[in-house]
Amino acid sequence: MANITLDNVSFTYDSSGTVREDSLVLKDINLAINKGEFVCVIGSSGCGKSTLIRLLEGLNFPTLGKIMINDKEVKGPGKDRCVVFQHYSLFRWFTAKENVAFGIKQNKKDLSRKEIEESAVDYLNKVGLENYHDTYPFQMSGGQQQRVVIARALAMDPDILLMDEPFGAVDARTRSTLQDMLLQICENEQKKRTVVFITHDFDEAIFLSTRVIFMQPKKIRDEITVDFGSRRVRADIFRSDDFNRLRNQLMSYFYEDIGEKLDITGASL
Ligand SMILES: Nc1ncnc2c1ncn2[C@@H]1O[C@H](COP(=O)(O)OP(=O)(O)OP(=O)(O)O)[C@@H](O)[C@H]1O
Ligand SMILES: [Mg+2]
Repeated sequence: MANITLDNVSFTYDSSGTVREDSLVLKDINLAINKGEFVCVIGSSGCGKSTLIRLLEGLNFPTLGKIMINDKEVKGPGKDRCVVFQHYSLFRWFTAKENVAFGIKQNKKDLSRKEIEESAVDYLNKVGLENYHDTYPFQMSGGQQQRVVIARALAMDPDILLMDEPFGAVDARTRSTLQDMLLQICENEQKKRTVVFITHDFDEAIFLSTRVIFMQPKKIRDEITVDFGSRRVRADIFRSDDFNRLRNQLMSYFYEDIGEKLDITGASL
């Protein structure tokens, strides 16, 4: 059974009431994501990726069609979903531990103060911040702050994690460390968490996901299954023929995308 279903979803930010074809930001999107899948969404700037996340989060609603999560239509944000953005959204006046604890408190009202604190510490340790429990965001690097954000999101224990270019603002080395960390945590968890992860990086998409959704403006161009199994080893995957094949396939869509844009301006490749 699909965890998330998009059924003929079209969307416009134009709230005038009349649906004009040229104002659509998403058009006729059909997508089914199963529980436990790690889906990466890739596509050029402005094609509608963040809009898709906003619809899944329940901040906006489809203009046409509907979105179902566990067989219920999305009517607004819910505790079953948590969003991580590119920019580290931490409370400046809270320590790392307090930031994570605050998130847990929002989602798990029945836990005692001690349990909340233990869980916050546990997740900070999982993301490699053993020595930063009592550190404030302004005393941390961007990569460390993003670890706190990820620790908070995981500690809130949502069924669905929505990630909008979460590693877009860190350097290449920190990025690969964060990728390894996220994969390892997801693989080690008992819970089958569904992840929808937006990225501009082909390598990141193939390395992390079980499926890559390639978007072109307003629509899904293709869905590519990635089958590296669990316990992914970076060096093995990046050297593999399968990796190159998938990368070439994504590149071909990327060039197709550029070609379409050039056609519009009358230019040619
Ligand atoms: N709040 C808004 N009101 C009106 N139009 C919007 C709004 N947010 C986004 N758009 C428009 O919707 C389209 C899709 O934007 P979206 O942010 O989903 O793109 P994206 O694929 O996430 O791009 P990027 O890779 O640059 O983040 C763009 O044309 C954008 O200008
Ligand atoms: Mg975006």
